[in-house]
Amino acid sequence: MNVMNSPIAAPVLKDKGLDIVLSDGVAHYFNYYWLRDNCPSSFDASTRERSFDIFHLDTAPRAASAEVVGDALELTWVGEDHVTRFPLGWLETYRQAAPRRDPSDLPRQAWYGDHYPEVPRFSQPELLSDPALRAKWIEAMLVEGFTIVTEMPDSDAGLTETVNLIGQVRPTFFGDYFDVKTHINPTNTAYTAAALELHTDTPAEEHAPGVQFLHCRANTVQGGGSLYSDGVAVANDFRLRDPEGFRLLSEVEIPFYCEHDTYDMRSRQTVIELDQHGEVSGLTISQHMLDIIDLDQALLDDYYPAFCRFGRMLQEEKYMMRFVMKAGECMVFDNHRIVHGRAAYSATSGDRYLRGCYADRAEMRSTYRALVSEGRFKA
Ligand SMILES: [Fe+2]
Repeated sequence: MNVMNSPIAAPVLKDKGLDIVLSDGVAHYFNYYWLRDNCPSSFDASTRERSFDIFHLDTAPRAASAEVVGDALELTWVGEDHVTRFPLGWLETYRQAAPRRDPSDLPRQAWYGDHYPEVPRFSQPELLSDPALRAKWIEAMLVEGFTIVTEMPDSDAGLTETVNLIGQVRPTFFGDYFDVKTHINPTNTAYTAAALELHTDTPAEEHAPGVQFLHCRANTVQGGGSLYSDGVAVANDFRLRDPEGFRLLSEVEIPFYCEHDTYDMRSRQTVIELDQHGEVSGLTISQHMLDIIDLDQALLDDYYPAFCRFGRMLQEEKYMMRFVMKAGECMVFDNHRIVHGRAAYSATSGDRYLRGCYADRAEMRSTYRALVSEGRFKA
């Protein structure tokens, strides 16, 4: 790269691409394939999709001429009757090999056991009518991973319309929705009155759903208090307390399963999940769905103690938010980040009915981006 003095230096054509000086006074290299493929005319304004097909060019694209005209780079192409004009400001966006800015890539804020009074709460009717409030809700989901939607209608449809504010209902192998109440022949510990240790849901899915909705329709039983911990808070502290344990839990995949008469789901997951920045973004943990760990037994000499140190840390009071859900509330939380459980309850002491379902994290981010940013195509 050359540092140029003149901001109007002509682009320099090379064999496979060109150099152009941008606003930082530095010559930046752009490849001809990339320039031809991303010509503004390659995209259909209506569908916002690329309508140009680079696979159908007869020869490798090569610029015949390049000059800066006003605020744009103008290119003509060898063997094509086609002019490409790039606003220089647009080229600036791509002068470094880096992902496009993502408004949903927000830093996470860890929370602890005393967080309940501060949990962001949103009224369902207000969310339905106010897109700006919807953006605030999703922002809280991205940053804190746990929110409560209040004033929920007492209906199945009420849950669906709430999910649809974020995305579609994401089915799992047991269907679109689940009902948590005591069953006569339970296929899952959740469907009993027993205590449920802290876990993330459906770890045996290849990609466990990212956002969980738990709509409390009735809760008059004795016991059955909810437990939630922020996996990011615990794993970040674990990283400091036990770096080698953290390495094992974030690098080594272990098997999870969910098996009964008609299904046999299996997956391999790391207990600690890291994002593209190397930051903790979630957990996969479930004692009742952990398969028999099939790793080298000598590796287990180190893995199991680290796994147990982390599992015990998850149970520390410092991290455990305890409260009793009320009818009309819907807990909405990141199923990878927030571990949840419940205390045992007395099934004969009253009614307890939760209806739940999931949505995808990626779809929630998509909705957020559309609410708060312009995208590539809006004027
Ligand atoms: Fe669960």
